Order: sequence, then C-alpha cells, then structure tokens
Amino acid sequence: MPTPSPVHAGLAAAFADAFGHAPEGVWRAPGRVNLIGEHTDYNEGLVLPFALPLGVSAAASRRDDGLVEVRSLQADTAVTASVSGTPGDVEGWAAYPVGMARVLHEHGPDGHGRKVGGATLLFDSDLPQGAGLSSSAALECATAIALCDLHGVEIAPAELARLAQRAENEHVGVPSGIMDQSASMLSSAGSALLLDCRTGLTSDVPFAPQDAGLTLMVIDTRATHELTGGEYGQRRAECERAAEILGVPALRDIKDLPAALAQLDEPVLRRRVQHVVTENHRVEATVGLLRAGAVAEIGGLLLASHMSLRDQFEISWPEANVAVDEAVRAGARGGRMVGGGFGGSVIVLTHTERADRVRDAINAAYESRSWTPPVFLTDTAPSQGARRLS
Ligand code: GLA
Repeated sequence: MPTPSPVHAGLAAAFADAFGHAPEGVWRAPGRVNLIGEHTDYNEGLVLPFALPLGVSAAASRRDDGLVEVRSLQADTAVTASVSGTPGDVEGWAAYPVGMARVLHEHGPDGHGRKVGGATLLFDSDLPQGAGLSSSAALECATAIALCDLHGVEIAPAELARLAQRAENEHVGVPSGIMDQSASMLSSAGSALLLDCRTGLTSDVPFAPQDAGLTLMVIDTRATHELTGGEYGQRRAECERAAEILGVPALRDIKDLPAALAQLDEPVLRRRVQHVVTENHRVEATVGLLRAGAVAEIGGLLLASHMSLRDQFEISWPEANVAVDEAVRAGARGGRMVGGGFGGSVIVLTHTERADRVRDAINAAYESRSWTPPVFLTDTAPSQGARRLS
C-alpha cells in the first residue's frame, strides 16, 4: 500500500491551525493515468486506467449548520457555501468540492435514512494541476468519501464515482465521462482497472511492468490542459452526432467499421469514429496481452493509440508528439498521450535499462526547441483508490 507523501503529514495540524480544532479524520483520493482507452468512456466503451500514488488529501470535520467551508493549501481563496445551493454561485477550484457536497446532499438519504450535510474541509494535493492526471476527480472523490464518512452515509464506491461525475458535469460545467472518477474511487494497488463504461462492470488487470524489466514513465509535458477549453465538448458532440447519423445508441455499438465509415459524409466524423472504434479494440488487445503476461508487447498498442489520437481524433499537442517520437527513437517499446488532450502528460513504456537514454533524448529534444523542461514523475506504481487515512 502506498504511504502518504510527506506533503500530507502535516495536514491535520494545518487544519487545527486554520479552524481552531482538530479534524475528525483525513481522507485521500488519487489521480490517475490512463493506460489505454482514450475518449471511449462517453462513447460507452472500454477504458483501462490506474490510480497514481499522487493525489488529493482532505482533513475534515462535520458541521450541522448546512454549510460547506473549503480551503486548500494550494489556493488563497476560502469559500463557504450552502450545501443545498444550485450550480453557478461558486467558481474556480472550490466549485468541485462544493458541487460534490451539493450532489451528495441532493442524492438524499441512504438505506439507513442518513443524508450528507455540511463540513469544513482543508485540502492538500501533490498532483500537478493541468497535467492531465485528474486532479479534479481526486478533489471530488476525496470530498465524497470524507462527507459520507462524516455523516455516516453509505454509498457504494461505483455510485460515488457517478455522483462525482455529475458534480463535475453540473456544477463545474465540464461534460467529462466516468473514467477519471472511477479510476480514483475503484482502483486497486498493482492493477489497472478495466471498466466497461456502459455496464459499469469492472475488473482488475494486474499491471506490474517492473516484474518484466520494464518501466512505465509518466511525463508531464508542461503544456497545461483545461477540459473547460471547449474542444473536449466539441469532440464529444461530434461523436454523438456520428452515433445519431449511424442510428446507434453510442459509437460503442458499431460492429462493422468500414460500413459505418461509408455512411458518413463528413471526413471529420469518419476520423472520430475510426478512432473510437479502433481504440476499444486496442483496450481489449491490451488486456489480453497483460493477462497473458506479455506486458512488453503492449508498446505497439500504446503507439497506435497515440497515432490515432493525433491523426484521427486530432487532440494531441506538439510536446506530446515530440516526447513519444523521441522515446521510440531512443528504444522505448511505445508511448502515448493520456487524458482529454491539448496538453497534459504522456506515458512511455521502456525497458528499464533504456529509461535513462529515453529521458535524455526527450530532455534534449525539448531543450533544442526552447520548451519548458518536462517533468518525469518518479513514483508511478499503480495504487489503491480513495480511502480514509486516519
Ligand atoms: C478526460 C475526461 C474523461 C475522459 C478522458 C479522455 O480525462 O475527464 O472522462 O473522457 O478525458 O479519455
């Protein structure tokens, strides 16, 4: 089990300093990396993310005046809002935890008649923001488990992930799918999480590249990304439009790709469909290889995913393309951009003995272009999902 980073050790003390009393507990939810299955979640397809050791911690105590007070060690703003408020009156980072509290409150009583109410929360994060590693989902999920525990409310983790997605969709206005919140809530240490986004069925797929002499590098390209930027919603709308033209509930349902492509007049829609359909197959192939113990062989699938996201879904960015190209040139097995696109992180799978060479090649390529140096995350072992720390 991953130990909390030193950054979080003083969180309970910081809470006592800020609010004059000790918190009732500390909860933590991780960020995620998606191994493969990008922009498939809202097309009701398959994803294969895993939770990082990095995440968001929340020290919190219950309050019974119907208010949520949120502060963060990473932000200057403190926000106090009613737990029964409506979307729109809280902006910025605080919209995530306040929105989460409101969605839980609105969700109503659990099987024991208990309902989520107010709380005071102090957050601390060691996840880089805008790096495409789901700091937002981690913030939502840390809030969700803290509030449920504080009010003695029992909601199954998969349902909490759906409520966290709703908080992001309705209270922040980002039309994200279910992958990030599911990865943060449901992941197990040592495994990637195979999630069927239509049925909600999950299974753990053991992922231990180090046992095969391999390293999965996670590289923050330092080109920050924002899901609120509009392009994410545009891609989603294009997929929905294609599904409507093709007469299927979701792109997941396409069984005959050439026939579907022949029915679409717009080249843009053909490219989007091509990506989504082939990406679902790549998830299945990746799971097959991992279950067969052939982890090194997934490199080609990662690379195919990257090229599809770059050329068909058109959401990659120059820093990601250069990192992946250089990694492969330096002998890596494969790599790809991760997350919503237009900025954030890439993953690279390499034999551990070549990791230094790969890192040097990427650094040199960035330097020759006068780009901000990338950040190579050091602790990337697949980790446990959201949990109470104390
Ligand atoms: C973001 C969204 C997810 C998913 C990915 C792309 O991370 O929050 O729901 O759609 O982009 O795979």
